[in-house]
Amino acid sequence: MKQPVNILILAAGLGTRMKSDRAKVLHKLGSRPLIGHVLRTAAALDPEKIFVVVGHQADKVEAAAKASVDPDTVEKMVFVPQLEQLGTGHAVKSAADAIKNARGSLVVLYGDTPMVRTGTLEGLLTAHETGKNAATFLTMKLDPPPAYGRIVRDAKGRFLKIVEQKDCTPEQMAIKEVNPGFYVFDIPALLPALGKLTPKNAQNEYYLTDVPEHMLAAGLPVGTLFHEDAHELDGINTRAEIAAMWKRLRHETLDRLMAAGISIIDPDSTYIDDGVTIGRDTVIHPQVIIEGNSRIGANCEIHSWSHLTNVDIGDECTVLNSCVIANSRLTAKDSVGPFAHLRMHTELAEEAVIGNFVEVKKSRLGRKSKSMHLTYLGDATIGDRVNIGAATVTCNYDGKNKNPTIIEDDVKIGSDTMLVAPVRVGRGSITGAGSVVTKDVPPDTLVAGVPAQVKKKLKV
Ligand code: UD1
Ligand code: CA
Repeated sequence: MKQPVNILILAAGLGTRMKSDRAKVLHKLGSRPLIGHVLRTAAALDPEKIFVVVGHQADKVEAAAKASVDPDTVEKMVFVPQLEQLGTGHAVKSAADAIKNARGSLVVLYGDTPMVRTGTLEGLLTAHETGKNAATFLTMKLDPPPAYGRIVRDAKGRFLKIVEQKDCTPEQMAIKEVNPGFYVFDIPALLPALGKLTPKNAQNEYYLTDVPEHMLAAGLPVGTLFHEDAHELDGINTRAEIAAMWKRLRHETLDRLMAAGISIIDPDSTYIDDGVTIGRDTVIHPQVIIEGNSRIGANCEIHSWSHLTNVDIGDECTVLNSCVIANSRLTAKDSVGPFAHLRMHTELAEEAVIGNFVEVKKSRLGRKSKSMHLTYLGDATIGDRVNIGAATVTCNYDGKNKNPTIIEDDVKIGSDTMLVAPVRVGRGSITGAGSVVTKDVPPDTLVAGVPAQVKKKLKV
């Protein structure tokens, strides 16, 4: 039977090499902080508990961690403070009280290694269980070796110890097999080994990497698992490394999308987050950015310089050049832009059109409704087949509150109409050009003027 799994993520360090006032794990790879990537991978192992050791900017790290996973995963998270950052071994030791009652094995991850795949950790867990080890960890080879801990073996190739680069002899420096920092521990064997750590080394730190050596000395079995893809296990220590990693991740995502039938005209200038889904035969033009929790349907066309964040776009929609769309939904066959801004839960029903220099906030447009030019629609509910003339403004803010505007089906709003909210325009009505509508307009009525007055009934 498979043992229960627990995760421990070390995220207390500042990350001196980032030259930043922000904790390293808060820096973003794509639109997600480093800690968010690690947590999502960890959560996919379906652990019993996820312990997170926090120190520098603990509150912010905790908030970012919670924001990057679903509520079920948040329930499993336990945040453990490490008041002074005295090394990775000290960080794990800080969590000793929290982990001592956990059942099964403990996967220890660093918060700055965001690319690791869940399958790789599953492989590590399997190796740990089949080897009946007290500790099992990944190793990889790099030539020249980076500033990582070196794996020291005896003449028969048996693992002896990990030596940090700063503590290496010249011979050890040349070792190409290194420690990427992914471990599984048997919890009852880990706790006494942590007690044996001392800071007698070049950095005066308690190294987690000394734990396997102490376990071997106590006669416990320690295993290593070699991993071929070194890039997947890369750690982030500098901003240049984040940029290089994001480029690789981006190209992986774009290659996957192209293989699935999506046209990416210029992969070098296209930025699409790894979690974004896109339907077949959609075309993405150069210089497009699609971020966050976004879905785009089939047969859409997204033109250059548009920036989409957390969007849900149905099939056959067109986004023309230079649009900004955030937290909004296009249902199907909608057209937006060029130069449009949709935000805060805006929703377009089928075949709606939003044109040049139109901003739409927290509003809904019904089927086949159009707002083509120079307009602000905020807190508005707009029915089907409505035409909004150029330069219309929903005056939604009275200085204190945001007020709603309701425009019913088949209304024609004349150019330059000011709709002073709260206000309702009844079905089939028309406002004349330049009207300032301060009172509700009944159905089938023409109003005009400042303030707008009833001019005639359109139906008798
Ligand atoms: C560590 C390993 C090294 C390995 C490398 C791979 C040790 C001693 N060394 O070195 O063998 O090759 O990772 O990337 O473990 N942290 C804390 N509290 C602390 C110190 C660190 O929570 O007191 C956290 C950091 O926030 C970070 C992680 O532990 O997320 C790793 O720390 P870092 O200082 O980056 O370790 P490396 O020097 O990279
Ligand atoms: Ca590191």
